[in-house]
Amino acid sequence: MTYYSKVIGTGGYLPEKVLTNAQLSETVDTSDEWIYERTGIKSRRIASAEETASSMAEIAARQAIEAAQIDPESIDLIIVATGTPDRVYPSTGCLLQRRLGIKHAVAFDIQAACSGSIFGLSIADQYIKSGAAKTVLVVGSEACSRIVDWTDRTTCILFGDGAGAILLTASEEQGILSTHIHSDGEYEELLYCPTSTEQQAGYISMRGNEVFKVAVNTLGRIVDETLEANELEQSHIDWLVPHQANSRIIAATAKKLKLSMDQVIMTLENQGNTSSASVLLAFNEGVRDGRIQRGQVVLLEAFGAGFTWGSALIKY
Ligand code: UT7
Repeated sequence: MTYYSKVIGTGGYLPEKVLTNAQLSETVDTSDEWIYERTGIKSRRIASAEETASSMAEIAARQAIEAAQIDPESIDLIIVATGTPDRVYPSTGCLLQRRLGIKHAVAFDIQAACSGSIFGLSIADQYIKSGAAKTVLVVGSEACSRIVDWTDRTTCILFGDGAGAILLTASEEQGILSTHIHSDGEYEELLYCPTSTEQQAGYISMRGNEVFKVAVNTLGRIVDETLEANELEQSHIDWLVPHQANSRIIAATAKKLKLSMDQVIMTLENQGNTSSASVLLAFNEGVRDGRIQRGQVVLLEAFGAGFTWGSALIKY
C-alpha cells in the first residue's frame, strides 16, 4: 500500500527584534522607498545573541507537535534545512533532536539554500511513500543575520531570521500530491557564501539582478512542471505559498498561475527573506490564520543558491 504524506501540524517562530528599512538607512546608503519598491520588504526580524538555528527550530517544531497533538516519540525522522547551522557538526537536526528529547528518530540537515524546505519536503515524502518512515518533522531555520555583510546595501536589506516547521504522517488520505526538485551548480558565482575556512570572510555575495532574471524564468517552468505532472489547470490551485525573496518575483509566479495576489500567502513585508525558513513560515501563517483550509490545493515553491529550485503540491 502506498501512503500519502499528510500535513498534521505546522509551526513558526520569529525573533523579537525588528529591524526596519528606516533603521537600515541610517547605516547604509539606502532608503525605505528604494527597498520597498524593489523588494516589497519593510522590516525583518533579527535573532538575539543567544538565538541559533536550533533554538528557533525548537520553538517552531514544538508548535507543530502541539498542533498535531502527537507524542513527539512517534517522530521517526527529523530533517532540518539550514544554511546557518549552529555548528558544522553535530548537525542542527541532531541538536534539535536533543532539544526535543526525541530518542528514536534519525536526524540530519540538508543544505539547499533558500530551497531547503522544499527539498526537505521532497525527502520526507519519499521516506513516507516508501514506508521507510511514518512521521516526519521538517524544519527550515535560519539566522541569516550572521552571514550578512551589514555594510553591503545590495544584500543586507534583504534577509531576516526565523524558523518554520511542518509535521507529516503516512495517511491513506491525500496529502503531498507531488514534489519536484532541481539543481544546477553552474551558477555558483551569482549567489554564494564562503565558509569561515576560506580566506574571504563568510558573508553572502549576490549578483541580485542576474539572480532575479533566472529566478523568474525558472519558477515559471516549475509551475508548468508541477501542473503537468498532476494533470491540473491553473484554476485548480487555491493558494500559492512562494519563497519570500522579492515581491516582483512572487507577482510574476502568481501571474503565471493566473492567481490574484489575494491567493498568495505573503510574509515578505515584515520578515524579509528568511531563506530555507520562508516557505514553511508562510505556510504556517496561512494555516493558522484560517486562509488555507482542509481539502484545498496549495503550491509551495522556492528558488535559491546553487542554483536550487523546486515545488511541492499539497492537498491540505
Ligand atoms: O532567495 C534567493 C534568491 N534571491 C533572489 O531571488 C533575489 C533576486 N534579486 C532581487 O531581488 C533584486 O535583484 C534586488 C532586490 C537584490 C535588487 O533589485 P534590482 O532592481 O535588481 O536592482 P539592481 O541590482 O539592478 O540595482 C539597481 C541600482 C544600482 O545602482 P546603479 O548601478 O543603477 O547606479 C544599485 O547600486 O540600485 C542600486 N542599489 C541600491 N540603491 C539603494 C542596490 N541596492 C540598493 C539599496 N538602496 N539597498
